[in-house]
Amino acid sequence: MGDSVLVIGGGGREHAIALGLKECEDVSELHIAPGNAGTSKIGMNHKIDVSNVDGIIELVQNLNVDLVIVGPEGPLVNGLSDELSKIGVLCFGPHSSGANLEGSKEYANEVMMNLDIPTAASIRIDTYEQAKELIDGFGPVWVIKRDVLAGGKGVTVTDDKNEAMEAISEGITLDGFVLLEEFLEGEEASMLVVMDESGFVCLPASQDHKRVGEGDSGPNTGGMGAYAPAPIVTDSVKNKVIDRIIVPMHNWLSSEESLYRGCLYVGLMINQYGDPYVVEFNVRFGDPETQVTIPLISSNLYELFLATAQGRLSEIEVNFHDKHALTVVLASEGYPSTSKTNRLISGLDSELENCMVHHAGTKYDEGGNLVSNGGRVLAITGISNSLSEAAKISYKYMGNIALEGSHYRKDIGFRSL
Ligand code: AMP
Ligand code: GLY
Repeated sequence: MGDSVLVIGGGGREHAIALGLKECEDVSELHIAPGNAGTSKIGMNHKIDVSNVDGIIELVQNLNVDLVIVGPEGPLVNGLSDELSKIGVLCFGPHSSGANLEGSKEYANEVMMNLDIPTAASIRIDTYEQAKELIDGFGPVWVIKRDVLAGGKGVTVTDDKNEAMEAISEGITLDGFVLLEEFLEGEEASMLVVMDESGFVCLPASQDHKRVGEGDSGPNTGGMGAYAPAPIVTDSVKNKVIDRIIVPMHNWLSSEESLYRGCLYVGLMINQYGDPYVVEFNVRFGDPETQVTIPLISSNLYELFLATAQGRLSEIEVNFHDKHALTVVLASEGYPSTSKTNRLISGLDSELENCMVHHAGTKYDEGGNLVSNGGRVLAITGISNSLSEAAKISYKYMGNIALEGSHYRKDIGFRSL
């Protein structure tokens, strides 16, 4: 008899995790809550909202789950991992105090300041008058952040002072304050680091595409596509990231009483000299970064999750394929501001070699038809020996998919292709 695993979430990230686990012999039961149409084909979906911590705990007890893997940040910030510890169930995902690194940017900034970790200077703005006094010292370009979980959409980056003041005033009205940050110049990359108190493993660095439009235009989204490995993270950059950011974070997190057993997502800005700065910490895998990272892990994925949740990551070896992965996100009409859902999706019947279809906002309707069910609907992931070949594969498959009003970026990977 193998183990019973529950994956929390319903996006492309969770489908990618579930697909990886499906390959592992030790996993005999695969549950997903709430999951999507894709996960329903490889495991058992459970209709429980990720914000319902009590409901998840009840499900875990009913199913006799051995390990819970938490996809999104919300349940971690709300203490799911702490509650699982109380009932003696293993969890991949930090306790709430560690999760606060993503839950509060102000807290993350304070931690980085104490540990001398390179990041943007930042100041809290509580009043419009204060903003008027300080605004010229911080821009142009201005970076305004709401200190809430906003799925990557609570940040305004602008060279227009009026727009900056508007974002500040809107944020103060909504939350009582905003953070005004120094603008960091350079190229972004995401480093997903699996860690527990015994050690850490850096997964291949990736690059997300956060703006909705080609050439990085338009509003920020949860992420419109990604690829890995990201060539901007050379060995020299990676070593700096490890020395200046990951080691101090790991030492500090390991000295804390609450457990950090999960993924630390380090959002980086790498400047022209190859010096890395932290743009943000997330306390979970990225979406869509996971779709291009998990397929590059050649070691047993379940063993990686399990060892981390048990605090014995340093005992296992983690290896990677010498390949490239690129994923393109198909989004609903109106995304990111709104999204039209319940529309038929077609074109997924054929199989293409080295191509993975990662479902996100999808479901089967009452008639058994595959329909859209969210802003980001699918991520089509090509895996190959070169980045350009991986891109060709995903775009070829994407070309056959039909979903009324949908859109996707045609330039994923442009910085490296
Ligand atoms: P965040 O939610 O903090 O990751 O911010 C979303 C996006 O805004 C980032 O991926 C960057 O593209 C941009 N951004 C955030 N902070 C900064 C900064 N200090 N300087 C430049 N760009 C930033
Ligand atoms: N793709 C950005 C994130 O997961 O936060």
